[in-house]
Amino acid sequence: MSHQTVIKRITAPDIAKRKGGVPIVVLTSYHAQSASLIDPHVDILMVGDSLGMVMYGLETTVPVPLDLMIAHAKAVVRASERALVVVDMPFGSYEESPAVAFRSAARILKETGCGAVKLEGGVQMAETIEYLTARGVPVMAHIGMTPQAVNQLGGFAARGRRRAEWARFEDDARAVAEAGAFAMVIEAIAERLAARITRAVPVPTIGIGASAECDGQVLVLEDMLGLSPRVPKFVKEYAQLRFAVEDAVRAYSADVRERSFPSGEHTYPMLDEVVEIPKKKKVSAS
Ligand code: KIV
Repeated sequence: MSHQTVIKRITAPDIAKRKGGVPIVVLTSYHAQSASLIDPHVDILMVGDSLGMVMYGLETTVPVPLDLMIAHAKAVVRASERALVVVDMPFGSYEESPAVAFRSAARILKETGCGAVKLEGGVQMAETIEYLTARGVPVMAHIGMTPQAVNQLGGFAARGRRRAEWARFEDDARAVAEAGAFAMVIEAIAERLAARITRAVPVPTIGIGASAECDGQVLVLEDMLGLSPRVPKFVKEYAQLRFAVEDAVRAYSADVRERSFPSGEHTYPMLDEVVEIPKKKKVSAS
């Protein structure tokens, strides 16, 4: 009999049950190495469409295609075993109609093996969320500052910092929860509004720039590791890896230029070393 421990992956219903409990820990991951490193420490690995900006140098997430999300999500699922993997539905893959959204979501679930999808929007996306959840697709909603709408919003500024704006975001939160979302990301909104929304909805709120009042937190991994050139106010850099990377690359570069790398320990010697015996010189008869 095998004594191998079978690790059960966290599911969307497991996350839904965490409302008001121990805060839910979420980080983005776009590839296998980061996924396997952070999987033991988080509840959710988020394959966010922020990968377009972080990994591909795009100015917004708008151009990110569905195929790209699927390729990255496959790597994250393959390299992890414990955390729930949630994959962003990119702009243009779900807004047109619930049926279009279902086709895109089905591709994501079938081709990647992830456990849930995330889509942006509140009241206007409630019908789609209801359609998807009624057909076996666990949906995480995303309200507040919704980056895919940057062209309409005019920028990435925080929302809900005036009371007059609150009702709209509270309506969004209630609508996506009633439609069946198992959790919702709330991005870049005032702390007092985040607290009201978190109290008002029966599903966990995952904040990014929305204060510790939320039921969980998400950050972009490269931002919190200090690899990103610029970060928003709400990011705490837990390390400053850009300096470590620069130091390592500078040292490598110097070693290569002065031929001190690779040294013997990084070089393959022959296995059947042939010792060349010098030929005897002919002695002339004269
Ligand atoms: O795209 C993303 O990475 C996200 C998370 C930061 C919530 O939407």
